[in-house]
Amino acid sequence: MQRLTRTLFFLALGCLLCEAANPCCSEPCQNRGVCTALGKDSYECDCTRTGYHGQNCTAPEFLTWVKITLKPSPNTVHYLLTHFKAFWNIINNISFLRDGIMRYVLTSRSHFIDSPPTYNVDYGYKSWEAYSNLSYYTRTLPPVSEDCPTPMGVAGKKQLPDAKLLAEKLLMRRQFIPDPQQTSLMFGFFAQHFTHQFFKTDTKRGPAFTLAKGHGVDLNHIYGDNLDRQNKLRLFKDGKLRHQVLNGEVYPPTVKDVGVHMHYPPHVSDSYRFAVGHEAFGLVPGLMMYATIWLREHNRVCDVLKEVHPDWDDERLFQTTRLILTGETIKIVIEDYVQHLSGYHFKLKFDPELLFNQRFQYQNRISSEFNTLYHWHPLMPDTFHIEEMEYNYKQFVFNTSVVTEHGISSLVESFSKQVAGRVAGGRNVPAPILHVAIKSIEESRKMRYQSLNAYRKRFSMKPYSSFEDMTGDKEMAALLEEMYGHVDAVELYPGLLIEKPRQDAIFGETMVEMGAPFSLKGLMGNPICSPEYWKPSTFGGSVGFDIVNTASLQRLVCNNVRGPCPVASFHVTDVKEPDSVIINSSTSHSGGSSINPTVILKERTTEL
Ligand code: HEM
Ligand SMILES: *[C@@H]1O[C@H](CO)[C@@H](O)[C@H](O)[C@H]1NC(C)=O
Ligand SMILES: *[C@@H]1O[C@H](CO)[C@@H](O)[C@H](O)[C@H]1NC(C)=O
Ligand SMILES: *[C@@H]1O[C@H](CO)[C@@H](O)[C@H](O)[C@H]1NC(C)=O
Ligand SMILES: *[C@@H]1O[C@H](CO)[C@@H](O)[C@H](O)[C@H]1NC(C)=O
Ligand SMILES: *[C@@H]1O[C@H](CO)[C@@H](O)[C@H](O)[C@H]1NC(C)=O
Repeated sequence: MQRLTRTLFFLALGCLLCEAANPCCSEPCQNRGVCTALGKDSYECDCTRTGYHGQNCTAPEFLTWVKITLKPSPNTVHYLLTHFKAFWNIINNISFLRDGIMRYVLTSRSHFIDSPPTYNVDYGYKSWEAYSNLSYYTRTLPPVSEDCPTPMGVAGKKQLPDAKLLAEKLLMRRQFIPDPQQTSLMFGFFAQHFTHQFFKTDTKRGPAFTLAKGHGVDLNHIYGDNLDRQNKLRLFKDGKLRHQVLNGEVYPPTVKDVGVHMHYPPHVSDSYRFAVGHEAFGLVPGLMMYATIWLREHNRVCDVLKEVHPDWDDERLFQTTRLILTGETIKIVIEDYVQHLSGYHFKLKFDPELLFNQRFQYQNRISSEFNTLYHWHPLMPDTFHIEEMEYNYKQFVFNTSVVTEHGISSLVESFSKQVAGRVAGGRNVPAPILHVAIKSIEESRKMRYQSLNAYRKRFSMKPYSSFEDMTGDKEMAALLEEMYGHVDAVELYPGLLIEKPRQDAIFGETMVEMGAPFSLKGLMGNPICSPEYWKPSTFGGSVGFDIVNTASLQRLVCNNVRGPCPVASFHVTDVKEPDSVIINSSTSHSGGSSINPTVILKERTTEL
């Protein structure tokens, strides 16, 4: 007791002696209370509607106390959802229970996201400029004030560790660590393709600015992020996009054909400079594969729509098809992609009606922190296996001939068979792309991110109490301690990649508890999920609405490749012989006699 008093005394003395700092630097306001400095030595916490009161918003109101007492921890909830398969099989089958749980998942997650958005890199307080300027990524936590004693506020050293050294010691892959959830490269490239529509940093302005003003799932990566680019990519006939036919199959047109800008290094020849919505999708064949699949899907859906609406003009066919593809994307992301990632036995459901009786804002703003946490480069392997070939990074990057050489079907088959790397746990970023991780660290510093522990508190997690608590590994904990001095000073991005993974999982707790709210808010906040949009007529009638409501990764692929359809999967199955998939559909190839594509997937032995 006496020792405690003495410590407090020295702390107080220390603060009298040190240059008077902004009192908000120590983040005194808890539970999402808002800190306002009052001069140099006092502050005020605004606890309005936090459910807490007191000087630092630490005293719970009665109802809050009941809630936090009853509420299981995120790790407990995760454990329940990823175990007891037999139990979930029953729940999944009882529709009012499944709906109720799914509604709870959506609302409990999206309540973490401020909507309308609040801060950005230049505004740590509410302002009209921060609200209205769409060129900024928003910020979930305000930046650390420039006048704070350390880069993380008050914790840790005055100087952060050298980013390159940190990355080499703790992030760089030594030996490939496969993801225990058996995530496939098909997933990895989907992640990259899908997220680049809303993570599109405006490097000319800096890391805090975005070129993707739609701030969500607007499919600008397919259609271009401005009208001029969109027009150049459009055929202006039957609603379709421009394309070329190679080896009897549809591929994107070339830059020469359509005259849109794409990033390609000089050595790429004209015939391999494919042009798609996103300027950077020539980067890896995995991206161009998905770009090709979605291009074919667009043109296929146009045919389907034209069959029902022969009177519709090009414009209406184009616009309606774009909405259908938006719906398909969200359906696939929730029911295939997030389903896989979560590892839940509970069956997720894309059903906008679940939110119609809830308070929910149909708008979204992309957070800088969401972009940073999504740098999942550890997913990438050391080499890429396609059919009998093995490509290293030098051979793979910007090599679009891989797409046409192997064809979409073989790429899907190969990427669905190759396992991706584990993201959390440290030391799994491939050396050839380590520079991307180093840059994320440097840019997070420029944007003055708060610490990993500050973000854990923001998303209702207990801050890590020690380096070992964070990493679960003595050696990495020691290195971290040497570099940061205090656990409260560990930065967000390195922390997410070094954090101890959950048991047999790809991520640690923070990645999931932080990522899921951003993700679900972005998906369900889309205008097509709002009551006036979410009805058949928006999608050209029941035929279009059915395409949205029956979309899956497997169907997307089956509907758009010639010949027997390969297994398309976000996880690698141990099954040696992939079962063939029989498909009956009205593809562009078959002239389209029936308009409702039916895919018959031969009953596959789903693993336990
Ligand atoms: C071989 C595969 C990959 C390569 C060569 C690659 C390379 C790059 C490069 C060069 C950047 C730009 C860095 C900068 O200058 O700021 C970047 C950004 C990024 N990458 Fe990757 N990447 C790959 C795979 C992935 C995957 C699988 C994901 C998973 C989601 C991913 C997510 C991101 C994100 C979110 C950004 C930030 C985009 C932005 O803010 O504009 N990348 N990557
Ligand atoms: C609020 O936080 C400050 C600084 O962290 C601390 O000195 C003070 O005792 C706290 N007040 C209460 C009521 O807990
Ligand atoms: C449960 O599932 C079975 C087959 O999976 C189905 O036949 C049955 O109708 C379902 N029951 C309910 C209540 O949905
Ligand atoms: C948004 O903010 C940036 C940086 O201050 C500024 O250059 C730009 O003009 C603003 N955009 C609008 C539309 O006001
Ligand atoms: C690109 O891929 C092709 C196979 O499609 C391969 O033959 C070629 O060597 C690769 N290019 C480079 C520069 O490695
Ligand atoms: C699928 O197509 C084949 C021939 O193309 C036909 O014999 C079969 O009945 C079709 N199956 C269904 C379920 O439509």
